[in-house]
Amino acid sequence: MKREQWSSNFGFLMAAAGSAVGLGNLWKFPYVVGMNGGGIFLIIYIVLLVLLGAPILMAEMSIGRHTRLNAIGACQQLNKNWGFVGFAGIFGAFIILCYYGVIGGWVMKYLFTYIFTPGINKPDEYFQNFSSSAAEPILWQLLFCAVSIIIVIRGISNGIEKISKIFLPLLAAFIIIIAINSVSLPGASEGVKFFLIPDTSHINSFKDIFSIILNAMGQVFFSLSLGMGTLITYGSYLSRDSSIQKNAFYIPLFDLIIAVLACFAILPAVFAFGLEPSGGSGLIFRTLPYVFGSMKFGRICAVIFFALVFFAAVTSSISLVEVIASYFIDSRKWSRPKACIIPGIVFAGVGITASLSFGLLSNVKIMGESIFDFLTILSDKILMPIGGFFMCILTGYIWGMPEMFREMSSGGKYKIYFRKTISFLIKFLAPAMILIIFITSFI
Ligand code: PHE
Repeated sequence: MKREQWSSNFGFLMAAAGSAVGLGNLWKFPYVVGMNGGGIFLIIYIVLLVLLGAPILMAEMSIGRHTRLNAIGACQQLNKNWGFVGFAGIFGAFIILCYYGVIGGWVMKYLFTYIFTPGINKPDEYFQNFSSSAAEPILWQLLFCAVSIIIVIRGISNGIEKISKIFLPLLAAFIIIIAINSVSLPGASEGVKFFLIPDTSHINSFKDIFSIILNAMGQVFFSLSLGMGTLITYGSYLSRDSSIQKNAFYIPLFDLIIAVLACFAILPAVFAFGLEPSGGSGLIFRTLPYVFGSMKFGRICAVIFFALVFFAAVTSSISLVEVIASYFIDSRKWSRPKACIIPGIVFAGVGITASLSFGLLSNVKIMGESIFDFLTILSDKILMPIGGFFMCILTGYIWGMPEMFREMSSGGKYKIYFRKTISFLIKFLAPAMILIIFITSFI
């Protein structure tokens, strides 16, 4: 059977950027920036994006396109003992899906609230009541999971590519509008300063700085969808007429631009309305209703905005479902619907406990964290960096850099820039950095 392919490189780029751009940029980045001291985090994040993110992105895309297989199959083909890297990735995708649906569900709830009601009066109270209630968030979460599963059942170029092509450019345009409004609020300049000017006054020890670095590393992996086979899977449908290096330049760039714009939309408003930047996972839900409330045509803007966030979340969550589904399709010979629905039931089910951890199950702690926080830490700060580490070792030492460059150049068709630097990053710097950050943070 001929493997499906993206219909064009633009389609791939949009789908891969669609996987990268998601709740990680719009929901998570602003609050992680807020919790980690603003400007200083931004700088560390950008450094890690270039030194870790881009090279691992190249490696994953090359492995995928070379082998034309799912994450486990691809790693196994490079070396039969290395299937575990792909397996860890599929497990990671699973963990992320458990909590991604919870936030995706919140986004849907806000979208429908703005469609059917004039707005949200007391954003803090509203968010608190909603997120801690039992049944409603679960219903939205299940709905979100169902939408993602249905799209993946429809197949690669049919479902994923079509959606991503339209919405991504729209999303960028729309966040700019909100950001302009947010920045022009009275008192907003404090937020801009907080975000852009590094302030080291609250860093008191090595522990503080390593915790910021670990959070930045987790965010790089999460936001670029790295270390768990998403880009192997998407790369496996990529044609040799595309330049991997170009894609590895544009995807992080696009991802960063959206994340930075999201901060401009959120952080100035946080300061303008006297909220706490370190407010945690509810930050955008507590903040944005104030911004929309103060805007002309606020309600319409809110509807469009939450619709776009919803699409961003869906294009990411379908890439996660695809990682899992493609394994069952390739290796277990399951039909596409079965390969989507059976895992779907499991992650949606576990996701219910994550949703309840904001209310009914808030006392249940795993290693001192709520179920939701535990799942996010497990994926971003443990599984994905470990996956990234092994991806570097597999590419640099087992498959070998010359092979990777051959794949990247499509057999000599494209020139590869910075070969030596890329080799150095993949073989030495990236794995060493992951190891050091990892070990120091956990000690
Ligand atoms: N990158 C996505 C986001 O920013 C999340 C994601 C992680 C998607 C890993 C796929 C794989 O929301």
